[in-house]
Amino acid sequence: MNKIIVFFFSISVFSACAPDKPKNAEEFPTPEQQKTALKEAITNPTKGLGAVKNVTLHHPIEQDRVTRGLAIYEMKCSACHKLTDQRIVGPGWQGVTKKRAPEWIMNMITNTDVMLEKDPEAQKLLELCLMRMPNQNMAIGDARDVLEFMRKNDGEK
Ligand code: HEC
Repeated sequence: MNKIIVFFFSISVFSACAPDKPKNAEEFPTPEQQKTALKEAITNPTKGLGAVKNVTLHHPIEQDRVTRGLAIYEMKCSACHKLTDQRIVGPGWQGVTKKRAPEWIMNMITNTDVMLEKDPEAQKLLELCLMRMPNQNMAIGDARDVLEFMRKNDGEK
């Protein structure tokens, strides 16, 4: 007799956990909405978090910035970043200007701690590299010079 009571009791406990209604289908994105979101993510890569909202890139690239960017790279970045796609401490820089928005790159350079704390893309890198990029105390103008140097490294003329 006791066993039967326990049996019914447990059924009622389990069914209490089950959702009483099926979830409303409208809460999920339709395949069409998913496609649009994906297209936006590709054509409009995230700008990241920080003071840099809009960067204008010039063609041809600005040679004086490239020269300054190279000097900064050698002094402050080359210990952890190669110019190929090889990862040492941080990811290699080859191709970085093709896969990231210029604003994202500059925010990563000038607002590193917040980016690592809150930006999903930066967090993915952190998971991969297992080491936090230190705050390099970079001025926005310096970051812009490094960005130009990265464009040059990616074959931009
Ligand atoms: C002590 C090592 C170290 C130094 C020095 C360093 N970084 Fe990093 N950097 C990293 C790591 C590690 C990551 C990946 C994110 C993480 O794990 O924090 C990274 C990520 C980046 C990224 C994103 C790369 C990508 O593929 O999207 C950029 C851009 C970057 N660093 C720029 C710089 C610049 C510019 C300097 C020099 C001013 C610099 N870093 C100096 C370690 C370093």
